[in-house]
Amino acid sequence: MEFFVTHQAVDHYSGDCSVAFASKDKSNDNRIIQTYLDLHRFEPKLASTLMLGKVEGYKSKRVLVVGLGESPLTKKNFIKVLKSLSSAMSSSKVKNVVIPLIEVEDANEAWIQASTARVLKNESYKVNKVGVKEEPSDIVLEAVNLYSKNNGANEIQKGVAIANGMALTRELGDLPPNICTPTYIADAAQSLAKNYDLECEILEESEMESLGMNSLLSVSRGSSQPAKLISLKYSNNGNAAPIVLVGKGVTFDSGGISLKPGSGMDEMKYDMCGAASVLGSMRAIAEMNLKVNLVVVVPAVENMPAHNASRPGDVVKSMSGQTIEILNTDAEGRLILCDALTYCEKYKPKTVIDIATLTGAVIIALGKHHSGVMSNDQSLVDALKVSGESAQDTVWQLPLDEEYDDLLKSNFADMANIGGREAGTVTAACFLARYTKKYSWAHIDIAGTAWLGGSKKGATGRPVPLLTQYIMDQV
Ligand code: BES
Ligand code: MN
Ligand code: ZN
Repeated sequence: MEFFVTHQAVDHYSGDCSVAFASKDKSNDNRIIQTYLDLHRFEPKLASTLMLGKVEGYKSKRVLVVGLGESPLTKKNFIKVLKSLSSAMSSSKVKNVVIPLIEVEDANEAWIQASTARVLKNESYKVNKVGVKEEPSDIVLEAVNLYSKNNGANEIQKGVAIANGMALTRELGDLPPNICTPTYIADAAQSLAKNYDLECEILEESEMESLGMNSLLSVSRGSSQPAKLISLKYSNNGNAAPIVLVGKGVTFDSGGISLKPGSGMDEMKYDMCGAASVLGSMRAIAEMNLKVNLVVVVPAVENMPAHNASRPGDVVKSMSGQTIEILNTDAEGRLILCDALTYCEKYKPKTVIDIATLTGAVIIALGKHHSGVMSNDQSLVDALKVSGESAQDTVWQLPLDEEYDDLLKSNFADMANIGGREAGTVTAACFLARYTKKYSWAHIDIAGTAWLGGSKKGATGRPVPLLTQYIMDQV
């Protein structure tokens, strides 16, 4: 799919399809289109579509009418409009299209062009079925022409870069866990490094042992897959302190000896979506050639039960020197993240953001709409909220008071790895906060937003739009 900017009025477009937007409160200014809407009794409800054949006054073969509902059109509703526009085009096998510019509340043309490119490109993502040869279809949307008053090419390129980052994130997430192992993620990072000229470093278990990462290694012990600590460095802003993104990379979370119940356990292949999202964000930023310094760190492990797996009651010493009583081997995310977060100190970071499918509790609290965010730096949360709103990939803040931290008390170590039933998302973050005292840090729990279940089962590519936008907003 390629995007082009056009300055020509859309009714002059002589390709497959022209889009015409119609809103509820403004009767259509185009009298001919309005006649068709009346004829079809089409009500321009939000994100409704009506595909027409040849329409008088339009040079294209077809006209796709897309309803906008009531004005003003919010950013959120504009994204809904784009998604239904995309599905209408693919079901009627349109190969090329022109889309007029519309007004979106609190958005400028740059935002509209970038978002349009990102959403349409991301909607075209297709899962690679393992070993299934799908006939390459010759009827796919090849060319999208966006009407612009300015030169929107730059904005479009940004939107495409974000969608490409999301595609990498979704591909890694959707892969089966027997393929997407820690070693596979390390290889993916290495090929990113090759393609975008990044520095790549992969620590093996023996090196992690020398660093004292016993907490991370305890999670991996029951697996026959070796753990990897992956880091990628993108330097495009001199000596400036880098932004560091840390992504949880549990390639399969069985729960370990605290085994999970069987139903839906396959979805624990998505427990590496934090890792996938930081690699996807790296790809997007590198593709944009953004003037920043960015580091991504991925602790990658598999959490399995075995004779040598860690057991409830085990005590391990983390790289920071603090000891942890493992009361539940299924609370493994924080055990790998704590060592990765200590490791981050060596980058002398400006900020560290970790992204993790950390708790089922965040799905109970926030559902699948917002990701949860907790931080030791309110200004960082405020910035993430703004960027999330702009990218339409939002976060909702949960508290991090010391009262919650008390729940992590252990009689046998500096802390326990679980805090009990209450406020599970917050106590998980309190655990991480004990390892992030030396820098400005935020934790984003994406257990609810990284993938969808049921018939729509698949990775979403979130929070790549949020992370990328946040980094872009720092430049
Ligand atoms: N990866 C899971 C969190 C998760 C669960 C994400 C369900 C999405 C859907 C994490 O490792 C985990 O198992 N967390 C436990 C923590 C508990 C043992 C304190 C949980 O949320 O149940
Ligand atoms: Mn778990
Ligand atoms: Zn997990």
